[in-house]
Amino acid sequence: MLNTGMRTITVNASKTYDITIGTGVLSEAGSIIRKTAGGKTAAIVTDDNVAPLYAERLKSILEESNYRTATYIFRSGETSKDAGTFISVLNFLGSEKLSRTDVVVALGGGVVGDLAGFAAACYMRGIRFVQIPTTLLAAVDSSVGGKTAINLITGKNLAGAFYQPDAVLCDVSLLTTLTAEVFRDGCAEVIKYGIIADSVLFESLKTPIRTQSEAVIARCIEIKRDIVAEDEFEHGARKLLNFGHTIGHAIELLSKYRTPHGQAVAAGMAIVTRAAVRMGICGAHSLRDILHVLRLYELPENTAYKADKLTHACLSDKKRDGDSLTMIFPLEIGKCVLKKIPVSELEAVIGLGLMEFKS
Ligand SMILES: NC(=O)c1ccc[n+]([C@@H]2O[C@H](COP(=O)([O-])OP(=O)(O)OC[C@H]3O[C@@H](n4cnc5c(N)ncnc54)[C@H](O)[C@@H]3O)[C@@H](O)[C@H]2O)c1
Repeated sequence: MLNTGMRTITVNASKTYDITIGTGVLSEAGSIIRKTAGGKTAAIVTDDNVAPLYAERLKSILEESNYRTATYIFRSGETSKDAGTFISVLNFLGSEKLSRTDVVVALGGGVVGDLAGFAAACYMRGIRFVQIPTTLLAAVDSSVGGKTAINLITGKNLAGAFYQPDAVLCDVSLLTTLTAEVFRDGCAEVIKYGIIADSVLFESLKTPIRTQSEAVIARCIEIKRDIVAEDEFEHGARKLLNFGHTIGHAIELLSKYRTPHGQAVAAGMAIVTRAAVRMGICGAHSLRDILHVLRLYELPENTAYKADKLTHACLSDKKRDGDSLTMIFPLEIGKCVLKKIPVSELEAVIGLGLMEFKS
């Protein structure tokens, strides 16, 4: 078990900002946003699951800090992370007459954060932006580091911007209303951090994350902070965060986004690790350990999609670089490596990963 306690983590990227983590942070939203983002109007962007739970509370907290508020609620789910909803958010900001000094507050999971963040980056060429993550996945990953995006018909996150928030408020108590399935999706990203960067974190995940969520979230954010500080615009080290994601995004695309991001990433991590073992990059004991932890969290470790379909879907991924694709392979738990795979060899590599080992 890791240590617990309320804390602030500072991200030093093109913008410096604080992530405040703890129980009850939401009640500080007015004063923190006033101090870090300022402005007169706060536009809350959220979805129709989160709105009935937390939007009214946030609205009154912001109004107590003298904000005029306006709330935009869209239908929950990955299919809303599209061009249509994006334009609707921009038009909403326009109709509410937000000026450049006002602030967009994303209240929700990764879908809300990615969409609202991209809208904040584009509206008037960029206005103030605060993230209040309400899923485990958003807390440990999408709310930190400034990647914002929407999906295009051809693939995931293909239109977007690097746009850092002015603050991130991570109130761990908001995660108590998550369904078991959505919580599990976040567990996949937490497991990812353990595999790419921290074997101690990985070991700690053998104790349920729910019993130590604050400390686990803080550790994941520290890892992401360090990676973002080193490589904000993903020229090198930041690519490690995409472990399991190239195949994961392909699974999401093939399932028409019916497979949630976390489950797709879990399957992607297992597939890449099996391929790494067969390619002699990683030991079989690391694969066994990864599969063991994925099973503890009831996450998938394979997919029914065939190698040719996955390969085709992978080729629309952003990680493609001409006639090769950068994939992340584990060397051991806590250490991964980037490898350029020629497009001509991709199907064979994926095929190696799909084939289960006989136990
Ligand atoms: N920007 C990044 O760096 C980054 C990193 C990882 C993932 N992502 C993106 O994040 C998205 C996935 O995020 P997600 O898993 O949070 O999905 P999500 O935002 O769709 O949330 C999952 C579900 O949980 C509901 N929900 C959210 N908070 C809740 C709460 N507190 N109580 C009850 N229900 C709640 C939502 O309404 C939704 O139905 C994907 O689009 C992925 O591409 C982005």
